[in-house]
Amino acid sequence: MCGIIGYVGEKEIVPLLIDGLKKLEYRGYDSAGICVINENGELECDKKKGGILDLENGVHDKKIKGMIGIAHTRWATHGEPNEINAHPHFDCKKEIAIVHNGIIENYSSLRELLKKEGHVFVSETDSEVVAHLIEKFYAERGDLKESVLKALKIIEGTFGLAIIHKNEKKIIAARRGSPLIIGVGEGEMFVASDVPAILNHTKKVIYLSDNEIAEITKDGYSIENLDGKLIDKKVYDIKWTINQIEKKGFKHFMLKEIFEQPEAIKNALRGRIKDNKIKLTIDLNSEDIGRIIITACGTSWHSSLVGKHFIEKITGIPVEVDYASEFRYRNPLVKPGDVVIVISQSGETADTLAALREAKSKGAKIIGIINVVGSTISREVDSGIYLHAGPEIGVASTKAFTCQITALLLIALMLKQKKSALDVTLLNELFILPEKIQEALKSSDEIRKIAEEFKDSKNFLYLGRGINFPVALEGALKLKEISYIHAEGYPAAEMKHGPIALIDENMPVVFVAPKDSTYEKILSNMEEIKARKGRIIAVTNEDDEKINRLANYVIKVPKVCDELLPIINSIPLQLFAYHLADLKGLDVDKPRNLAKSVTVE
Ligand code: M6R
Repeated sequence: MCGIIGYVGEKEIVPLLIDGLKKLEYRGYDSAGICVINENGELECDKKKGGILDLENGVHDKKIKGMIGIAHTRWATHGEPNEINAHPHFDCKKEIAIVHNGIIENYSSLRELLKKEGHVFVSETDSEVVAHLIEKFYAERGDLKESVLKALKIIEGTFGLAIIHKNEKKIIAARRGSPLIIGVGEGEMFVASDVPAILNHTKKVIYLSDNEIAEITKDGYSIENLDGKLIDKKVYDIKWTINQIEKKGFKHFMLKEIFEQPEAIKNALRGRIKDNKIKLTIDLNSEDIGRIIITACGTSWHSSLVGKHFIEKITGIPVEVDYASEFRYRNPLVKPGDVVIVISQSGETADTLAALREAKSKGAKIIGIINVVGSTISREVDSGIYLHAGPEIGVASTKAFTCQITALLLIALMLKQKKSALDVTLLNELFILPEKIQEALKSSDEIRKIAEEFKDSKNFLYLGRGINFPVALEGALKLKEISYIHAEGYPAAEMKHGPIALIDENMPVVFVAPKDSTYEKILSNMEEIKARKGRIIAVTNEDDEKINRLANYVIKVPKVCDELLPIINSIPLQLFAYHLADLKGLDVDKPRNLAKSVTVE
């Protein structure tokens, strides 16, 4: 939930760290801080409540110079967002500084113990205990890495940590459960929570695994496990460009990412359909599969629900979908022979990772659908496919959702082709899907005008049927997370079993109403809303007199085959949520209380 960057080298350190924090701001933005070993060998620090700009303005006048520094952007878990609770945190003598992402579960017992030994705490955070624990061990041996190692053996919980000591020309980094990478440069080295933070400087990256500790100096690094055994790690070459993670003229990352979907889908498909056959790096034989369980969180859970529809239809294999946070805690009945698909944009979601480990421990085969290359989940699955959607920075997931559906469809088709030839029409439809999305995106201005009409609404209902019910759920999630308007997704037919009581002129209803086998039923549901004075926005690929009469606003999308309806129908709903939140003047990319990757339970 927080972002870390650290640097050792000869570049001007403060702008470098601030720039890195800006690239990580999607991970947390309630407070931020920086600490540098200055030219006098002292720790010089600044912290601010608020975003990175507040920190940047404050730190500017201090003219801090040095070669080693760490910085942090916070998303509070323990202790309210304020200057004192902002990272870095220090030992009593202010010789050691630490930045932390994760949760120290045994912090309160450790804090009591250290207090009894005379340590003085200043913040309410769980993280501060780490600085004091290292201080305690440093007093014994005077070696930073050894002291950190000793501390890590006592700490329970999760951490991505970067630590400096005023007398040592190095950064110590360690991880358990919270992502951390090492950036390898020429005469300079980096540590960060995520690649965008360092991409301006290097494309060579090492992904730390759980229980690994790295010692980073200007000229190199060494990585060990907690038993002190040296580990040889692969250095990855990052293919993303800095241009890909900037806004390219769009007002927000979310809007840019919505408009990137034609390209993202092309990339998700690239090289995976050849001679009417699906080629994936997944080792699965449909004959051996008893059932498939898909587990994920949030938007990725919604794409799982879409996947269930067409995997069952195309392959005949039963599919269950479970929230990862529920799956992991209910001792799920998983047997060898079951296939568990985990879906995660970030590849770092704590609940999804725990669900993966639970399923693995019970003998299931684990397949991943992940966007972030080299992420923790991607490294723990048995096999899987990357989305290749490019970096998704906006907290509200958009292009990852449509690419996840695409990936699930490819898996369904791959399983089917082992038994019989594929439907070439569907494959052709997949090829032209990017053009259809491009067409759908042209409604953006029209959708903004509709959003203007509804921006003062307090509630929304989103209704869909069959494969489009998850689209209604996703549309409602997009609206609530960025516009703070209460919105509920519901299966349209269920409306009469309760939610219809809510309908009056103040309850706008968004219908996902494509011309498929459920169309006539959906029109009947619209009649029911109309009869109760509800205002209707309909997303459809039809242009008949009936829908035009029933709906106050009709948003047209191009015609596609049934399997691709959830993708094309999502586009206007993403745009509607975006424009409405923007018209309300809200910070679309960084909605309150939310973080891009939820790396705590
Ligand atoms: O990175 P993941 O796909 O595992 O993230 C799962 C959810 O946290 C994520 O989809 C969340 O719901 C988004 N904010 C939705 O826009």
